[in-house]
Amino acid sequence: MTDNTVDKTRPYAYKITGGKALKGDIEISGSKNAALGIIAAAMMVDGPCTLENVPDISDVHVMVDLCRSLGATIEAPDIHTLVIDPRTINTYKASGALVSKIRASYYLMGALLSRSGQASIRLPGGCNFGQRPIDLHLKAFRLMGARGSRPTDIDNGIVNLKADPLHGANIFFDIVSVGATINAMLAACKAQGKTVINNAAREPHIVDVANFLNAMGARIKGAGTDTIKIDGVPVLPGNFTYSIIPDQIEAGTYMIAAAVTGGDITIHNLIPPHMDPLSAKMREMGYTIEEGDDTIRVYNPYPDEELYAINVKTSPHPGFPTDLQPQTVVLLCKAAGMSRMHENVWQSRFQYVPELAKMGANITVYDRMALVNGVTDFKSATVEATDLRAGAALVCAALAAEGTSFINNAQRIDRGYEHIVSKLTAVGATIERVNVDYTSEDTEA
Ligand code: UD1
Repeated sequence: MTDNTVDKTRPYAYKITGGKALKGDIEISGSKNAALGIIAAAMMVDGPCTLENVPDISDVHVMVDLCRSLGATIEAPDIHTLVIDPRTINTYKASGALVSKIRASYYLMGALLSRSGQASIRLPGGCNFGQRPIDLHLKAFRLMGARGSRPTDIDNGIVNLKADPLHGANIFFDIVSVGATINAMLAACKAQGKTVINNAAREPHIVDVANFLNAMGARIKGAGTDTIKIDGVPVLPGNFTYSIIPDQIEAGTYMIAAAVTGGDITIHNLIPPHMDPLSAKMREMGYTIEEGDDTIRVYNPYPDEELYAINVKTSPHPGFPTDLQPQTVVLLCKAAGMSRMHENVWQSRFQYVPELAKMGANITVYDRMALVNGVTDFKSATVEATDLRAGAALVCAALAAEGTSFINNAQRIDRGYEHIVSKLTAVGATIERVNVDYTSEDTEA
């Protein structure tokens, strides 16, 4: 399955003609956040490895280009497979423009520190949800013996770390952080002695990065709990083929797209327990969620009855994922009465609400809480994808809206959704990418 093409060097939008119930089957791709962590982790392995079920998305392409720029040999025999040989890496510095394109470039701090005892990495980019500090990452490195890890050591946007050598440490994170947990795991794998990470994040992709590293020869126990213990080993031999887990957030987005359009979709190749927080909330609203071994079917058994308004709070796994917050707000618009969405992970993650209001949503934001007044009949509009998941939320609203919508800055959505146009077309959506001339607001196919 391939998506329609546009000139991606120019601005482009998704053009969506909505109002149709989505019906059929959708296959989930490999997890973006797991793939980014694992590709970075592959940089500290002492031999080659093969990664399968790698998502064909632009964030992964950036990470691959970044790792190639370090000297790593990376071949792609097909769009979902990477054959990686990090033994050709010839630098511990990553400070070019690619670093600031993605958040996950910060994993190269842990990986290169582990590989070379040194890492000079520009501060990362990624979606703007307010402040995104890396103090917890730096604290972990400092406790493991790295110098240059005080926030005041950051020189002109570049973090310069040096360890001689890294040693095990007892680390306690004051805030549950996905990135800091993964970075601490990376640094600890080849550190001398034992590391314990307390109050660790438990997201599915943390377990996947740990499983990958263990397959390469690391000794990590407890990933998926809040205490991770790592016995450092001198060498990670590699020489293994590893398959990346399905993308929890992609799966959740399509569950919501099915529901908000009044459709009936079966989603394949996902891990149903990863969807528990969303499935539970959708059931509370009145949807039926049928789970198979690696499938979930979503539909509304009583389409003529009102959906229930509910309250949702985002929190670290196994809580409700913040990366499904904007898409869920779109679904809450379909419930009768007042729903509440509390954003507990990010300081500022409701920037998309004014865009959703252009499509008819009635939402009031108070700091970290959104009050959602339903029922909204979405109407078509031209809107901006303010970030990746906000863009996905606007796609869901546009699929439900009668008429034709344009979602500008669609390249932000392509960062994290593999072949979204062809996947949605296969379940009955009318969607294509179109180049957009922002100066005249014209569009072309
Ligand atoms: C990762 C995900 C992102 C998701 C987030 C929370 C990737 C590439 N990105 O981001 O999509 O929204 O997890 O599930 O996997 N914090 C600090 N100091 C730090 C680090 C974090 O205060 O050093 C705070 C952050 O400001 C935020 C909270 O901790 O409020 C959680 O952030 P974190 O889990 O680290 O998010 P990321 O790893 O950046």
